[in-house]
Amino acid sequence: AAAEKAPYPHFMIKEIHEQPRALRDTLRGRIEGGRVVFPELEEAVSHLRRCRRFFLTACGTAFHAGLVGKYLLEKLARLPVEADIASEFRYRDLILDPGDVVLVISQSGETADTLAALRLAKERGAKVLAITNVVGSSVAREADWVLYTWAGPEIAVASTKAYTAQVLLVTLLALYLAELKVTLPPEEIASLVEEIKLLPERVAQVLAWEEEIARLAQALKEQQHFFFIGRGLDWAVAEEGALKLKEISYIHAEAYPAGELKHGTLALVTEGVPVVALATQPHLLEKMLSNIKEVKARGAWVLAVTADGQVVAGETDVCFHLPPGNPLLMPAVAVVPLQLLAYHVAVARGCDVDQPRNLAKSVTVE
Ligand code: AGP
Repeated sequence: AAAEKAPYPHFMIKEIHEQPRALRDTLRGRIEGGRVVFPELEEAVSHLRRCRRFFLTACGTAFHAGLVGKYLLEKLARLPVEADIASEFRYRDLILDPGDVVLVISQSGETADTLAALRLAKERGAKVLAITNVVGSSVAREADWVLYTWAGPEIAVASTKAYTAQVLLVTLLALYLAELKVTLPPEEIASLVEEIKLLPERVAQVLAWEEEIARLAQALKEQQHFFFIGRGLDWAVAEEGALKLKEISYIHAEAYPAGELKHGTLALVTEGVPVVALATQPHLLEKMLSNIKEVKARGAWVLAVTADGQVVAGETDVCFHLPPGNPLLMPAVAVVPLQLLAYHVAVARGCDVDQPRNLAKSVTVE
């Protein structure tokens, strides 16, 4: 019954709409009186308290959720994090110490490269903390400690609800470690925790834009190239937005840290090329504005995703205003219009949304 998509035409759109529920389920039991609690990490506490650095490894969308985690672990728990795609991680001559923690993220828990990276990390003496969506999966069985995303079964090849649940979990993990390591005052943790409870509702608000986004998708469906730009957390979201679009609509899409554009890619930005600019981070807004002006000056068509009201709107062709909130919590909300856009562009192009060509839901062979 969980695999039924009705009344939706595709599993992907069903799963996009399940996100508020997936977030609520992933939150359940993990917040107590303004703190994050993880009973499943009880055995890990002394190790985590002492640990001085994290590694993070995953593939595809799970890696993009990891990039959000990297920023938040650094910002909130003051932990240096080295992030590496699993197929790179496993073939480097990694220097791991027994005190290190390797965070492994995998929806399926069966991705070959991710699993090999996990095994390598253990062989080299590090501890493995896994985030996965599948109870009893290989990653869950082999990791030292496991945190589950409770997104429910994800059927569509393009990952959506698992991603937002992973983003939520890495955010909770960063706050949990911030308390353990005393890097944030309890009041600050409590205020972020309070706001995290509002995320399912914020995502639901953005889901209500679907019709408008579907209309926009009609207008964009003939495009052949897309660029996604952002800075900091927005760059991580841009990577995910570009991946969603290319895997299901077969449109060439690239994501860049916005400041990197002028180091080469700006040469490809010409009249009418769509650029999706993520601008949800106030401390980077001025910089993003100048990047937006830069691409506009080359004739780009700019869609902005922002949370700041009017500042960016005046400079862009279309502007999505996210519900306001703490910038650190924006990724789980900012990705939603990008998921909807990718979905509706793919549908408008007549693509097989749930089963894109050449791709498998989980890549269990190298
Ligand atoms: C996501 O839309 C992709 N289809 C893909 O990148 C996926 O996220 C990746 O293969 C990792 O899968 P996992 O989370 O099951 O390990």
